[in-house]
Amino acid sequence: MHTEYCFNPVNAMPIAITAIAAADRALDRASGGLGASAPRGTATPPPPARSTTQSVLAIHRWHEALLGVRVSRDTAFRFVPGHYARLGLPDADGVPLFRPLSVASSPADAHLDFLCTLVPGGAFSARLAALRVGDIVEVERPSYGFLTLQALAPGADLWMLASGTGIGPYLSMLHDPQLWTRHARVALVHSVRRAADLAYADELRARAQRPPADGAGRFLYEPVVTREPGASRWSQRLPQLFADGRLPAALAMPLDVASSRVMVCGHPALARDMRALLDARGFVTSRRGVPGQMAFEQYWQEPR
Ligand SMILES: Cc1cc2nc3c(=O)[nH]c(=O)nc-3n(C[C@H](O)[C@H](O)[C@H](O)COP(=O)(O)OP(=O)(O)OC[C@H]3O[C@@H](n4cnc5c(N)ncnc54)[C@H](O)[C@@H]3O)c2cc1C
Ligand SMILES: NC(=O)c1ccc[n+]([C@@H]2O[C@H](COP(=O)([O-])OP(=O)(O)OC[C@H]3O[C@@H](n4cnc5c(N)ncnc54)[C@H](OP(=O)(O)O)[C@@H]3O)[C@@H](O)[C@H]2O)c1
Repeated sequence: MHTEYCFNPVNAMPIAITAIAAADRALDRASGGLGASAPRGTATPPPPARSTTQSVLAIHRWHEALLGVRVSRDTAFRFVPGHYARLGLPDADGVPLFRPLSVASSPADAHLDFLCTLVPGGAFSARLAALRVGDIVEVERPSYGFLTLQALAPGADLWMLASGTGIGPYLSMLHDPQLWTRHARVALVHSVRRAADLAYADELRARAQRPPADGAGRFLYEPVVTREPGASRWSQRLPQLFADGRLPAALAMPLDVASSRVMVCGHPALARDMRALLDARGFVTSRRGVPGQMAFEQYWQEPR
């Protein structure tokens, strides 16, 4: 059976899977509550598990609250750069808790990389903090998301704006040869609290300083450290740096709906404020298959 998945961008739940779960519950009731895994006759094989069991291959501690986690990859797991996976970390009884995490590695890699922050008091963060090489991780079979290169119309300049771990999807996109068929210049702007949060800064800086490879365009990397004055050229939050035009002017990449494409990933307030700023300049998101000029992925909901 071929299943089409449709994803709710707010709670990231795959709708087809929800429908299957509801159907399973209805079957449970009809069978007197035997449970979805109880035999229901010989004709119907059990549905495939929603996730595959993988293992932790490596953990890199950028600092006490920022981890790079490398996980084995099921050969059937497919994703487009910018997508996220849903990872399940089991408790002592083996019951997994799932959370979405952006894939930071390339689709060409045999493994999956994730950049993870540890939120104080967070249930998933507590499990991440205890994670060790060799531990079991569940990975849902589909990948999800709308923050992809294909979501935007081609345009000369691409802005990749990230706060904190929101840099993850861009790391994956930077491996994608399609990047340079769609854009001539790419500026990755990473806003973090402290310089220690600038994961991958050395290789991004080196890449920005190298002459572009054959067929590639110009890559710019701009770290923004907001809580350590002097640690970077800028210390203001990104919406402020765009509102007065300082950052586009400094990078000689004017923000213009005709030539600029903007991706925003991470903090919901960053997404909200950048969306308002871009809205006012005529940028739109993709609608009904028509690619737009801006795209967003926010990692949590703002409190009401
Ligand atoms: C589409 C999507 C992709 C995501 N990708 C990543 C990723 O690549 N790396 C990652 O670390 N997290 C990512 N997240 C967030 C992740 O799913 C969890 O929320 C995070 O791991 C914390 O889980 P928790 O159970 O400990 O806390 P939760 O109960 O999930 O979150 C508690 C609070 O912590 C804060 N918070 C949560 N995640 C972050 C974060 N990443 N940065 C700063 N503050 C945060 C928010 O204030 C949130 O309300 C993503 C979320 C979404 C929706
Ligand atoms: N970063 C650390 O050193 C550290 C250490 C231990 C634990 N933690 C925990 O890890 C979690 C995540 O922290 P994080 O630093 O990765 O993520 P974060 O709080 O999302 O901060 C990342 C960047 O987003 C910026 N930002 C915040 N609100 C914004 C807004 N409204 N508009 C635009 N930009 C905005 C921040 O600027 P501002 O600095 O101006 O807010 C910072 O530059 C937190 O729960 C934190 O307590 C962090």
